[in-house]
Amino acid sequence: MIRFSNVTKTYPPDTHALQHVSLHIKPGEFVSIVGQSGSGKTTLAKMLFAEEKPTRGEIVIGDWEIHKIYPWQIPQLRRQIGIVFQDFKLLQRKTVYENVEFALQVAGESKKRIKEVIPQVLKIVGLQDKKHRYPRQLSGGEQQRVSIARALVHRPKILVADEPTGNLDTIHAHEIIELLRKINDYGTTVVLVTHDRDIVNSLKKRVITLADGKVVSDVECGKYHIS
Ligand SMILES: Nc1ncnc2c1ncn2[C@@H]1O[C@H](COP(=O)(O)OP(=O)(O)O)[C@@H](O)[C@H]1O
Ligand SMILES: [Mg+2]
Repeated sequence: MIRFSNVTKTYPPDTHALQHVSLHIKPGEFVSIVGQSGSGKTTLAKMLFAEEKPTRGEIVIGDWEIHKIYPWQIPQLRRQIGIVFQDFKLLQRKTVYENVEFALQVAGESKKRIKEVIPQVLKIVGLQDKKHRYPRQLSGGEQQRVSIARALVHRPKILVADEPTGNLDTIHAHEIIELLRKINDYGTTVVLVTHDRDIVNSLKKRVITLADGKVVSDVECGKYHIS
């Protein structure tokens, strides 16, 4: 469960990135957050993993009160929330396998657990056969799949993806969206930030539209209707 209650975010001195945002996302939902550049989408996404705190208002994610979270609690929170970015953020000197392994190592997982989990997540994203490749030896779509595999290592309840298809061509973009859909079918809540009209319209899922930091529409099976 994700709940924003009257959330306002002001970046000093006076950029009102989000204004009085209230929303509720139920476990297992697939929600797209859309809006023009600068409308506050990334700010909203960052609050889901406590990269930013609200200036005013409350954010509750499961048992966590993000507006009150202490820095030492943040790593714990981030194990329950998978994060995917537009630019993949892979380690170039590590293979596919090692990129995923690293995420588990920094979280202090045992060798046994690491050996168990890596094949599972590589299977979900369909990269078992390419596990010894380096990022530069993969297509953009494959690199994004590695970053999704890495986001899944702790079996997160929520996956937040900020413009995950922004660097991809149409075919790879749709592959990534299908993968997010599959992950959602397994029960993970997916919050997808995007400005890709075709993707939003083909998803036929809930769409929350932001404009100037405000929620201007929130519809089930929504269409992208920004001019
Ligand atoms: N760290 C920051 N410091 C100051 N202003 C910021 C910062 N991050 C974003 N902003 C501003 O907040 C507004 C919303 O930005 P953002 O959330 O990135 O929107 P979007 O992802 O929809 O493009 C924009 O006006 C942007 O310039
Ligand atoms: Mg953004």
